[in-house]
Amino acid sequence: MVEPSYVGEVLFTAEEIQAGIRRLCGELMHTYKDKKFSVVSVLKGAAVFTADLIRQLPGDLKLNFIVVSSYHREQRSSGSITVEYMPPSAEFAGQRILLVDDILDTGMTLSHLQKEILLRGAREVKTCVLLEKRVTRTQPIRPDFRCFFVDNIFVVGYGLDLAERYRNLPFIGVPREATR
Ligand code: XMP
Repeated sequence: MVEPSYVGEVLFTAEEIQAGIRRLCGELMHTYKDKKFSVVSVLKGAAVFTADLIRQLPGDLKLNFIVVSSYHREQRSSGSITVEYMPPSAEFAGQRILLVDDILDTGMTLSHLQKEILLRGAREVKTCVLLEKRVTRTQPIRPDFRCFFVDNIFVVGYGLDLAERYRNLPFIGVPREATR
């Protein structure tokens, strides 16, 4: 595929992403074995990743969504998270939760959500991200599962956006307008 002119550099092609997800699913199946778990996906960024991930996982797993906004229209974290929607506590109580997000940056989103889900009665919350940024996190969190590491640069595509654009790209890249 020829990348569009608004993408400066492709970091992970569609094929590389799918191969990464297959590898990740192997790790998940090895870790959970026959233990049941529920997937909780963070919208909107993790929508595309979650759709591909769950279709490679066996069993009758449950899927829920949390809606969060943190970036608004900027290329760096706004420093605060707004939880726009959280499923009822009954969806978490006593469950093993796999919390799925697109990218781990400062760590604020996942550490906040992990605490909230535990407060709602989950027995365990493991975290799973498509991308882990190589940055110094403000929160002491490491993902339990990740597909790829990425340098500290703003990335788009495969669910990730810049002011709500580029989520539809099948690959992950650096937009030309990104601030380096
Ligand atoms: P924190 O800082 O809470 O960030 O770990 C996680 C959320 O921030 C968004 N984010 C990005 N979105 N390109 C994006 O499109 C990026 O490079 C990027 N870095 C962080 C994302 O919504 C993630 O859930």
